[in-house]
Amino acid sequence: MRQAGRSLPEYRELRADVPMLAACRQPDLVCEITLQPVRRHGVDAAILFSDIVVPVAAAGIDLDIAPGVGPVVAEPIRDTAGVERLHRLTPADVSFVDEAIRLLVRELGATPLVGFAGAPFTLASYLVEGGPSRTHARTKALMYGAPAVWHALCARLAEITLEFLRVQVSAGASAVQLFDSWAGALSEADYRRYVLPHSAHVLSGLAGTGVPRIHFGVGTAELLRAMGEAGADVVGVDWRTPLDVAARRVGHGRAVQGNLDPATVFAPWPVIEAEVRRVLAEGRAAPGHVFNLGHGVLPQTAPEVLTRIVARVHAATAGPGGQP
Ligand code: CP3
Repeated sequence: MRQAGRSLPEYRELRADVPMLAACRQPDLVCEITLQPVRRHGVDAAILFSDIVVPVAAAGIDLDIAPGVGPVVAEPIRDTAGVERLHRLTPADVSFVDEAIRLLVRELGATPLVGFAGAPFTLASYLVEGGPSRTHARTKALMYGAPAVWHALCARLAEITLEFLRVQVSAGASAVQLFDSWAGALSEADYRRYVLPHSAHVLSGLAGTGVPRIHFGVGTAELLRAMGEAGADVVGVDWRTPLDVAARRVGHGRAVQGNLDPATVFAPWPVIEAEVRRVLAEGRAAPGHVFNLGHGVLPQTAPEVLTRIVARVHAATAGPGGQP
């Protein structure tokens, strides 16, 4: 999950003099940062070091990632002229990602690499608000007040996202994750009307690649049914909804991912262990379960605790001898 690396001293050291976006554009650095949590924790897959705004910047939008704040956009998009500033993405615009993934796949050997992108709604929110927002008020104002502009913006973002994910799969990513982190700000009706068709376009566009598609959002308890319909193979769930409940909502044949509360790591070990076992037990209700946190690693997390959680999950799932 986002910021797994931020809890690691070796990550902070590498990033000390390199701004976030600059780091994302250096293939050798991307490769090394991506490998760090794999080496440390022995996780079963690596997640590409990048950010959801990388393709949007590559498509012509002037933005930065401010430390402790998140993405900040110089000129927010709120009309048709703004949408026009977002040009189509070509593979050449993100050749550094292609290069980083090729390096990584060689280094990772049998460990799969998960590529990712931001979903149209979450990207649109940053572009319309100009930065992170708690209420997404301007985003909703555009959605309700100028639906044609809204749909044009999301359609353009869906094309960029699809192209960006295709580049990652061609370079060797074994799975992709579509992050609609802030979709939980919407009612189910608004999600279905304004967002689902655009996310579904991205997910269906990847169907022919054969790689598993994961779709994740935060605060999506009421949206899980609709998110299941958007077409991913795996639906990521935050810590608020037990995985057995989530499995029923996302519908037949879909796996779930999650959902240990990221703050659990601050509890005493017996509490953490009980929570890990609960998540594993509830995950059995789905046809497949990718164990993960319910959202990003908090920067204050002690890396040793993450290593211990990974070992506990492995012990519980290591075949017939594994103890739940
Ligand atoms: O662990 C990883 O490094 C995985 C790579 C990754 C990053 N961003 C690196 C990053 C991933 C998968 C993301 C996705 C991302 N970025 C999402 C979707 C996932 C989620 O967590 O919901 C979102 C919403 C963003 C936007 C974003 N970028 C935010 C909200 C922030 C945090 C700002 C802060 O500092 O608190 C970022 C910055 C960011 N992205 C960092 C990293 C490692 C921190 C920057 C730094 O280290 O200086």
